[in-house]
Amino acid sequence: MNLRSPHLLGIEPLASEEITLILDTAESLAQISQREIKKVPTLRGRTVVNFFVEPSTRTRSSFEIAEKRLSADSLNFSPGASSLVKGETLADTARNLEAMAPDFIVIRHSEPGAPHMLARICRCSVINAGDGAHEHPTQALLDAYTIRQKKGRIAGLRVAIVGDILHSRVVRSNIFLLRKMGAEVVLSGPPTLIPQGIERLGVKVEGRIEAALEGVDVIMMLRVQLERQTRGYFPSLREYFRLYGLTAPRVRLARPDAIIMHPGPINRGVEIDSEVADGPWSVILEQVTNGVAVRMAVLYLLSGGAGGGAEEEIRNPEA
Ligand code: NCD
Repeated sequence: MNLRSPHLLGIEPLASEEITLILDTAESLAQISQREIKKVPTLRGRTVVNFFVEPSTRTRSSFEIAEKRLSADSLNFSPGASSLVKGETLADTARNLEAMAPDFIVIRHSEPGAPHMLARICRCSVINAGDGAHEHPTQALLDAYTIRQKKGRIAGLRVAIVGDILHSRVVRSNIFLLRKMGAEVVLSGPPTLIPQGIERLGVKVEGRIEAALEGVDVIMMLRVQLERQTRGYFPSLREYFRLYGLTAPRVRLARPDAIIMHPGPINRGVEIDSEVADGPWSVILEQVTNGVAVRMAVLYLLSGGAGGGAEEEIRNPEA
């Protein structure tokens, strides 16, 4: 089995079997990162352009490490150093990148749909590393990988997602993924940061964080995206923390074995108390570790690697 599309543009178009395939492949490839020589020749001779038109630390370095561990040649293209600042359109930049014959373009862009446009123009595989407030598929996949690793399954779990739902591409990708895989999702956050009609995606909304956390297996906190907020959505950060911040007493409302996740970067004392972020329930840094394996799996599968073939790849380390 393999993925049906040559691109990874979002979770919405994926079938649950494709999600399972990516997670299973990531599980095999994760072993490579535990070796002394963390490299296999799988993508030798292939070129990846990392085209990041929005700030990113975790996602970009995670893709870069994944590419290196698979022996791809990669090039980082960032707008500060490019002609985008000289007024070139995204379509023209894309055509120029395409003319250099890369095999993959990993794109992060503030415009929803930018990766889709690239996929229409370019012959290479396009991977969406976050497009505006639309989707961030590899984040949802690494979240799912972490949930499966900790809980042994996704189906039947109750997941609370709390925070700035309106501006979050992470939440959209996670809702699609968790619903496809059979988890229950409950959202909470200030009413001004919950998009109208979000229940249509098959989720519940709770105004009070306490009600959302009751008995859940997974708590996923979202960053308050101050840079995307065009007006005051809540009175102050202190007020936000008082009403929606994740504190230890609130965590105790969840199941005793609940895990706490956050895509990062975290705002300590805004959406999450330091004690909780660094506490025993937190899997935030494991999410970062798992991101590498998940991105390796996506690159491997999109390059034509067959599911089940990953075992063979990892037996073949590069000396
Ligand atoms: C997220 C993003 O950029 O969408 N971060 C990430 O990729 N790790 C979430 C955020 O910025 O809050």
